[in-house]
Amino acid sequence: MENIRIAVLCSGGGTNLQAILDAKAAGNLPDGEIVLVVADSEAAYALERAKRQGIPAAVFDKHVYSRAAREQAILAALGEKKIGLVVLAGFMTVLSADFVKAYEGRIVNIHPALLPSFGGVGMYGLHVHEAVLAAGVKVTGATVHYVTEVCDGGPIIAQKAVEVREGDTPETLQRRVMREAEWIIYPQAIEQVCKKLKGE
Ligand code: GAR
Repeated sequence: MENIRIAVLCSGGGTNLQAILDAKAAGNLPDGEIVLVVADSEAAYALERAKRQGIPAAVFDKHVYSRAAREQAILAALGEKKIGLVVLAGFMTVLSADFVKAYEGRIVNIHPALLPSFGGVGMYGLHVHEAVLAAGVKVTGATVHYVTEVCDGGPIIAQKAVEVREGDTPETLQRRVMREAEWIIYPQAIEQVCKKLKGE
C-alpha cells in the first residue's frame, strides 16, 4: 500500500510544519509523505519553510478569498494532489461542516492546551495561553485530535502535559508548550494515523 499523501494547512510561523518535515527527514514518518502545504495568508512563514524543502505550496489569502471560496479552492487543491490526510498546523480558520465531511476521519489538528479545557471558538494561539495563566492552573499541554464539526471537540489522539511556571507570560508558556509537547507529539500522532489509514 502506498504512503498516505499529507497536506499541511498553516496560517503563520509553521513551527509545527517544521517539526513534521524534520520527522520525515529523520525517518520518523515512514507511512506518510508531505506533498502539499496550504496557507491562508501570503505572509505565512510556513510558505518559506515549504519552499526550502522543495514542497509545493498553495496560498488562498484571507484578504482575497471569501471563506466559502477559500474552502472550495483548498478542496480542489487537495483533490488534485490526491490527499489522504489533512494536517492542520496553526491553521486559524474553523472548517465548515461540509469540508469536514469531505475528509471525515482524515483531518487532524493540534491544540495548545489539554482539551477539553481551554478549547472552542476564539481559543487559538496566544489566547489559549492567556486563558491558562488567567485560570491559574499549574499544568497545561497540547492535544492532537481528529477534526469534527465541533470546534476542538473531535476524538483525542495524543496529549502531553507541560508545567506552568511562576512568572510565565503567554509567550514563554507558548514556547514551552511547543518545545516540550507540540513538536514531539504531533509528528508521532501523524505517523500513528498514517499507519492506521494504510491498514484500512
Ligand atoms: C501552535 O501553538 C498551535 O498549537 C496553535 O497555533 C500555533 C501555531 O504555531 N493552534 C491553535 O491555537 C489552533 N486552535 P506554528 O505556526 O508555529 O505551528
